[in-house]
Amino acid sequence: MCILLCLLFSTYSQTTTMAIQTPPLLLIFLLISSLTLISQSRSDTNHVYSPCADAKVQKSDGFSFGIVFASRTLFFQNGSVQLSPCDKRLSLSSGNSQLAVFRPKVDEISLLTINTSNFFPDSYGGYMVAFAGRKYAARSLPAFVANSTFTVTSFTLVHEFKKGRLENLYWKRDGCSSCSGNSNFVCLNGQDCAIRTNNCKNRGGGVDCSLGIQLTFSGTDKHESVFNSWFEVKNLRQYSLYGLYSNLRGSLTDQYNKFF
Ligand SMILES: *[C@@H]1O[C@H](CO)[C@@H](O)[C@H](O)[C@H]1NC(C)=O
Ligand SMILES: *[C@@H]1O[C@H](CO)[C@@H](O)[C@H](O)[C@H]1NC(C)=O
Ligand SMILES: *[C@@H]1O[C@H](CO)[C@@H](O)[C@H](O)[C@H]1NC(C)=O
Repeated sequence: MCILLCLLFSTYSQTTTMAIQTPPLLLIFLLISSLTLISQSRSDTNHVYSPCADAKVQKSDGFSFGIVFASRTLFFQNGSVQLSPCDKRLSLSSGNSQLAVFRPKVDEISLLTINTSNFFPDSYGGYMVAFAGRKYAARSLPAFVANSTFTVTSFTLVHEFKKGRLENLYWKRDGCSSCSGNSNFVCLNGQDCAIRTNNCKNRGGGVDCSLGIQLTFSGTDKHESVFNSWFEVKNLRQYSLYGLYSNLRGSLTDQYNKFF
């Protein structure tokens, strides 16, 4: 579902997710409230739509979070303390950054895709941070996405909840086990399978280097009911879920089937 500014980002997922792109973080409040009127479903009891506000969720609710692309240093204050991208002390909105906002259903495994045919993560600093919340703010560590040499296209993001509040967001990695011995990939820092950027479409090669982010939920909802999606993906590897998404463009599924 792609409504307002969908020039750069689009999502294909089994849940209702949205992506917008807009440099100033201030704009998101405005956009989110208008976007969500359209997408709200009956089983979604969470009325918090801004990724910079606190929500308490139960199973089947939607949950808004954001991903910001920027250089690694823009996520830190004074080069040392990593702050939430919602924190005005960071100069993200005035710096070279891009924001995407998603609203997946909690406890559903979904795959977010960000089409990179017009959007090169390396031209926005090459790192991304996932975030949500204000008082109960959670942000992931910055994950390397791309530079002019390497591009990482597949990620797994874990949302960890405690009694319905987001406690932690982290990237789950498989130590390159999905690409070891595969000459199409390079293992970066022993954790990420990367494609050479010059193999990507529009960069001299033929591979669709759109980003895929597999989402999963762990912990408990506000009724202390345990999220199950985590157990379903815990043992899966990077790229392993692509085949499950029938509505994902064939280009991605086919190319990864060819690779693995
Ligand atoms: C960070 O920098 C600001 C000004 O840029 C300063 O007021 C503050 O004390 C610094 N904090 C730390 C922990 O160095
Ligand atoms: C990205 O967009 C291009 C151009 O519209 C399209 O050909 C390609 O299939 C898209 N990739 C994905 C993964 O949707
Ligand atoms: C690109 O990133 C990789 C992995 O972080 C690093 O080893 C390499 O030096 C970087 N290349 C450029 C041109 O920045």
